[in-house]
Amino acid sequence: MSQGTLLITGGAGYIGSHTVRHLLEQNERVVVLDNLVFGHRAALPLDRVTFIEGDMADAALVEKLFAEHKPEAVLHFAAFAYVGESVANPLKYYRNNLAAPLTLLETMQRHGCKRFILSSTCASYGDPVRIPIDESHPQAPVNPYGASKWMLERVLRDCDTAWGLKSVFLRYFNASGSHPSGEIGEDHNPETHLIPLVLQAAAGQREHITIFGTDYPTPDGTCIRDYIHVCDLASAHALALKFLREGGDTIAVNLGTGRGFSVKEVIATAEAVTGRKIPVVFGPRRAGDPSELVADPSRAMEILRWQAAHLEPREHIDSAWRWMNGAQRGHYAD
Ligand code: UFG
Repeated sequence: MSQGTLLITGGAGYIGSHTVRHLLEQNERVVVLDNLVFGHRAALPLDRVTFIEGDMADAALVEKLFAEHKPEAVLHFAAFAYVGESVANPLKYYRNNLAAPLTLLETMQRHGCKRFILSSTCASYGDPVRIPIDESHPQAPVNPYGASKWMLERVLRDCDTAWGLKSVFLRYFNASGSHPSGEIGEDHNPETHLIPLVLQAAAGQREHITIFGTDYPTPDGTCIRDYIHVCDLASAHALALKFLREGGDTIAVNLGTGRGFSVKEVIATAEAVTGRKIPVVFGPRRAGDPSELVADPSRAMEILRWQAAHLEPREHIDSAWRWMNGAQRGHYAD
């Protein structure tokens, strides 16, 4: 049931745009703030959302937005998310992922807006000391990207103590897949994620996929990840919002399926889905990759009443393949 207006920062990005669609299906009123550095205007149904092109660090713009639209809650997706780049250029990440949201939070405080949903990450845990990873697992991020999210979680907890801001930190595992319509999907530039790269190799858009490391302590020697469908992430945001509307307290929640798949399994599944042989090259390990990341999603199920609807990587790959073969061929025009 729709209540007040929702502010979605980064709503033109991959996960943000899927969540916008889901919220609109639930008759929510949505304002999107996106600077389009990584987002795409074409990812938004512009006839159904209020779109403001701009930066969350622009205090005057954010003040005007709050004065005009009086958002009831903020869903905060806007962030940089390249782990390798964050190691090379940490200040860029702390500026955008940690400092910029402070302007947003100051404005929220001034306007009495006390609900916040954060796109957080399993990268805030660092190298796992146990699998599956539950929310009480130590947070010891090993790169500035993960650290920036972990620090923002801390900021939000302090805001709760000081002025009663209630937040849900949604710690995503590996987001993948596309909207079933094939109208929106994953379009990063540069693309670094496994499934789109594998499908680009299947489509002949790149010569091969390089497997980063075959000597991990896993059954087939390649890394294991918990792939969570982007539409399941979207539905979790709606449930997190419901949780806060019903008076829920600040909480961290993992979003994963609880099932891990290796890089080789993902490639084999992509070959089955596409019916194409995917050329593979074996390369060295990529710096900073833990061998295994798998969520314990029990808290999301218990507290948010959330359940992943797409458990099989086949479904994720199938929807991503549809997006790649749809009208936009996997890339937005803008
Ligand atoms: N991989 C390859 N070849 C490639 C690309 C990826 O073998 O060309 C492997 C990676 O080594 C990894 C797996 O495929 O084992 C998945 O890699 P992704 O880059 O798709 O995803 P990550 O697990 O590295 O990253 C995800 C999120 C990040 C988050 C991170 C936490 O995308 O935002 O999990 O570790 F920080």
